[in-house]
Amino acid sequence: RPRAPPAVTSCRPLPPAGPRAPEGAAQPAAPHSPAGRPRGRPTEGAADTAKKNFGGGNTAWEEKTLSKYESSEIRLVEIIENLCDSSNFECNNMVEEHEEHLEKWWFRLKKKYPDLFKWFCIEMIEVCCPAGTYGPDCLACRGGSERPCHGNGRCDGDGTRDGDGSCSCDKEYTGDFCLDCSNGYYSTLKNETHSVCTACHAACKTCTGSSNKDCQDCKEGWIKNEAAACVVCDASCVGCTGEGSDKCKTCASGYIKEEEKCTDIDECNLPEKACIRENEDCVNTKGSYKCVCSEGFEEKDGTCVQTVKTGKWL
Ligand SMILES: *[C@@H]1O[C@H](CO)[C@@H](O)[C@H](O)[C@H]1NC(C)=O
Repeated sequence: RPRAPPAVTSCRPLPPAGPRAPEGAAQPAAPHSPAGRPRGRPTEGAADTAKKNFGGGNTAWEEKTLSKYESSEIRLVEIIENLCDSSNFECNNMVEEHEEHLEKWWFRLKKKYPDLFKWFCIEMIEVCCPAGTYGPDCLACRGGSERPCHGNGRCDGDGTRDGDGSCSCDKEYTGDFCLDCSNGYYSTLKNETHSVCTACHAACKTCTGSSNKDCQDCKEGWIKNEAAACVVCDASCVGCTGEGSDKCKTCASGYIKEEEKCTDIDECNLPEKACIRENEDCVNTKGSYKCVCSEGFEEKDGTCVQTVKTGKWL
C-alpha cells in the first residue's frame, strides 16, 4: 500500500459525510430552485440523517431529489472543499493529493466503509492511527489505547503514525504511566489502572494529606511548629527556623535586626524625610510606609491640593 509522504502528519478525524441544515432551510423553496440547492457540508452525524435536516415539507419529490443529491458529484465536491479549514495547508494538501481515493470511496466504497476517517486516513493513506495508538504500526499507547497514560496525560503520537507512545503527564502526575503524584500533590485514589492526585495545602512542598499537618516538607517561607504543622514564617522574615520575628534567617525588606529580632523600620522617623511633597504626611506601616495628603488636602495630579469646601457654606 502507498505510504504517506512524511510531511503529512495532520490527523484530525475527517467528519463523516452528512449535511448540516442548509442556510435556506426555513424557506421550503430552497431545495427546488437550482440556485438554492442545499449546501451540504460534512458535519457530525451520519449521511442518512440528511433528509431530516431540511425543515418541513418532506414530500416524495424532495426525498427523491435529495437522495440523488446525497450521492451526487456536486455534493462530493462540496464535502471535499469543506474537509479542511482553509488555513490548514497540510490538510488541504493531503486532500488534494488523495482526491482520487476520496472519489473512489464516495462512489464505490462508502456503503461498505461508512467511516471515512478510518478508511481514508488510517487504512488507505496510513497517516492516522486509531485513537489511543501511535507510530508506524499503530501500537497501543502506554497505559493502553482505552485510556492512554491512564487518563492523566497525553500519549506522544496518539492517533498518528508518529511518536513513541510515551506519556507527557498532566501537572498533578508523574512517572512513565502517569500513576504517581507530582511534588505538591498527594494520592487520593490508586490502583493498577486509576490514580487521582490532589493538591497539598499551600504550606507543604510534599505531603500525605490535605492539611498543613500532613506536610512532609514545608514550602519555602513556612516552618514546622510544635504541633508538626507547617505555618508561615513571621512577616518580618525571609526564611525562618521557627515561629516569631526572632527566628528569621534574614530580615524582610523594611525590617532591621535589633536585639536578635527583625524589627520594623520607622521610615517616617529617619533623618532623611521619606515623604517630600508639600502638605503631605508620612504614615509608617509594617515593613513599609505611606505618604498621604495632610488633613484638609487631597491628592490631585500627583500633588496635595486644598480640599474645596462644598455644601452648606456655599
Ligand atoms: C480502580 O479504581 C477505579 C476508580 O475507582 C475503579 O473504577 C476500578 O474498577 C479499579 N480497578 C481495580 C482493578 O480495582
